[in-house]
Amino acid sequence: MDLKSVIRTIPDYPKKGIMFRDITTLLTDARGFRRAVDELVQPLAGQKIDKVAGIEARGFILGGAIAHQLSVGFVPIRKKGKLPYKTIAESYELEYGVDEVEIHVDAVEKGDRILLVDDLIATGGTAGAAIKLLERAGGEVMLCSFVVDLPDLGGADKLRALGKKVTALVEYE
Ligand code: PRP
Ligand code: HPA
Repeated sequence: MDLKSVIRTIPDYPKKGIMFRDITTLLTDARGFRRAVDELVQPLAGQKIDKVAGIEARGFILGGAIAHQLSVGFVPIRKKGKLPYKTIAESYELEYGVDEVEIHVDAVEKGDRILLVDDLIATGGTAGAAIKLLERAGGEVMLCSFVVDLPDLGGADKLRALGKKVTALVEYE
């Protein structure tokens, strides 16, 4: 099955000129969702991991399903101010301004081997901050998995330049 056939494109969302790649249609499609989960873990090829970390919001849906499939725990990486316990934070650049992602201080144990998951990588700002957070907490990010890569924006290459293994299931210009 061609995963692109279940990803919907919304022109001019959330702003004029942006072609928004909407994976909710993939999630609604039982075969598409199963296929995406299976393919996102494939590069691990049997390597043991200890936790899956997913980036808010769509990374929670994919990452939760993957954690269940691998029978490992899940770490939510949330936007600033959403987590109830003590957190550590990492900021990253947006087109205008900065944003912050957080995890709970006790979400990662020293030496945890982590699979990082999100729906899409664009500039890599969000995933880059997520990697820093997980590694500051003592984890090791073994693989970064995305359904969609927008290679023109350079995010996946940026993570590879940091020495990270990156996989994406489809690419759009
Ligand atoms: C999107 C996407 C990634 C991020 C990628 O999230 O789900 O998390 O942008 O962009 P980057 O590689 O340039 O950092 P969004 O900001 O739309 O947040 P949301 O999931 O909370 O809607
Ligand atoms: N879809 C989802 N998130 C995004 C996109 C997109 O097309 N572009 C930047 N972040």
